[in-house]
Amino acid sequence: MTDVPTHPHDAAFQSRLATWQPDLARTLARVYGRDAAPAVTSRLVAIARAAHDVRPEELLRLDEQRLGEPDWFQRPTMLGYAAYADRFGGTLRGVAGRAPYLRDLGVGYLHLMPLLTPRPEPNDGGYAVMDYRSVRPDLGDVEDLRHLATVLRGQGISLCLDLVLNHVAREHAWARAAREGDAARRAYFHVHPDRTVPDAFEATLPEVFPDFAPGSFSWDDELDGWVWTTFNDYQWDLDWSNPDVLCEFADIILALANLGVEVFRLDAIAFLWKRLGTDCQNQPEVHELTRALRTVARIAAPAVAFKAEAIVGPADLPAYLGVGEHAGRVSDLAYHNSLMVQVWSMLASRETRLATRALQQLPQPPASTAWVTYVRCHDDIGWAIADDDARAVGLDPVAHRRFLSDWYSGAFPGSWARGLVFQQNEVTGDRRISGSLASLAGLEAGDPGAPARILLAHAIVLSYGGLPVIWMGDELGLLNDEGWADDPDHAADNRWVHRPAMPWPVVGEGADPHGITAGLRHLVDVRRGLPHLHAAVPTEVWDPRDHRVLLVVRRHPDGPLLAAHNVTDEEAWVAGDVLDWLGLRGPGLLDALTGAAPEVRDGAVRLGPYASAWLHDGG
Ligand code: GLC
Repeated sequence: MTDVPTHPHDAAFQSRLATWQPDLARTLARVYGRDAAPAVTSRLVAIARAAHDVRPEELLRLDEQRLGEPDWFQRPTMLGYAAYADRFGGTLRGVAGRAPYLRDLGVGYLHLMPLLTPRPEPNDGGYAVMDYRSVRPDLGDVEDLRHLATVLRGQGISLCLDLVLNHVAREHAWARAAREGDAARRAYFHVHPDRTVPDAFEATLPEVFPDFAPGSFSWDDELDGWVWTTFNDYQWDLDWSNPDVLCEFADIILALANLGVEVFRLDAIAFLWKRLGTDCQNQPEVHELTRALRTVARIAAPAVAFKAEAIVGPADLPAYLGVGEHAGRVSDLAYHNSLMVQVWSMLASRETRLATRALQQLPQPPASTAWVTYVRCHDDIGWAIADDDARAVGLDPVAHRRFLSDWYSGAFPGSWARGLVFQQNEVTGDRRISGSLASLAGLEAGDPGAPARILLAHAIVLSYGGLPVIWMGDELGLLNDEGWADDPDHAADNRWVHRPAMPWPVVGEGADPHGITAGLRHLVDVRRGLPHLHAAVPTEVWDPRDHRVLLVVRRHPDGPLLAAHNVTDEEAWVAGDVLDWLGLRGPGLLDALTGAAPEVRDGAVRLGPYASAWLHDGG
């Protein structure tokens, strides 16, 4: 018998398998029961092994590298950017050609909006995937995707793609087979012959798109049944209580990871598990399933990270980065929806009490994870403000949410915002808001405070703690896209108002009439040099003495950093006792943003209108 030498990567795989398989088995037992779990575990291990066997050498090396620097996405040098491939670069090759632009901006992580083959329009901006194994033909093909990931990696940029896993397009092969009578594929979906079960669920289900897709079930003639459709009627929710669905997605993730995708954005992850009598969001199984997928990725492709897109209320948010037993075992990244909402709330109400209270309620995430902090993204803004938080600071929650919708739709007297109402819900009175960052912040209306307001919002998300992600065009202050409704496939969905194409020739000329690009670059540059802003450094939000100021403290072994943000157009103050508590009194007190000592009067630090100061002891 000849000894076949073991490849070092195989040995590494075996060792990870030995470490993680018991955890995987226990997780699956909690979801599918003790009897079913062993078979599902074996299937997932086989999928992991097969994917690892064909993982390209370069990515195996990346696996090793990432295991040695697991904080790669937490560093203050990391900056994210999110864009539609077509609107940013035309095609995937075009995006690759723009890598130097991103690099120059300091970007190390690029989230490209859905680019796997969707159903023909309408397809919810690509979130109705027809084939997870091919690329939208007008953008390129799978080889172009591999090429793009490789080019980006060469420039130090990690590629993040959407993994739309709550639903598939009605035209996906699984849904087609179900419509043709394939019982096994029908069992991938939630299908009911009559309204009994749908009615029972709908009694407690909120509507996501009450306007253009009311209800959560759609009748399908070919299925001869009601199929669960949380979003649009052409997006069929998958039944994750069926282990076949989990195995399919494990295989899809690893195939994409082998093309070079490094981060998966788990789209609409909150909705994965349905339970009668609940709102069918944030169910415990959501976290178990995430953990199972994460564990499989850990075994086969440990370079991969997960980002949870759970746009949920603040109380449900921490679980997506892992609390209790799940700490460090679910997603590595999660959108800080609450911070985003509070930034807009502070700017409109010109005070920080509610934000302080709401942000103080959130526990520190596990040290190995990071929030994705952002001011705008491709979606609407929903006023996810907890009633308790509002009441605790003397606000009527309903009235405050109404005020924010009025303010950002420009209806409130004196408002500088130019947003649109998205999905007015007649039943709850909720009105979400669409609009580009610059238009919502007053630039379109010509408000003189707008540029400073835009930079302040960025200064908050860049110093708060996490991986800050810039939405395409916000670095230029792009306004609402006036022609958003010209495309008949987009006309019903006004989120397209804040998804304008990059005006490349103009960008190339470097025009920056309001100083937004230069200001943002400055913030990013300063951030890179501050170890306090590593995501593993805890974020403390302190009670404001002056209610115009948001106080964020980051205590690093090198000393504390106090990020103070004035959310108004008046001057405001950082009270002396705050500086005393932090020991930031000495002659070395420095504002990292100006590189100079701050102006101190009667022991307090002065903040100009919409100014941020990042105070630390530079001595
Ligand atoms: C996510 C996406 C959103 C989409 C929805 C359904 O929330 O961000 O754009 O409409 O999922 O896939």
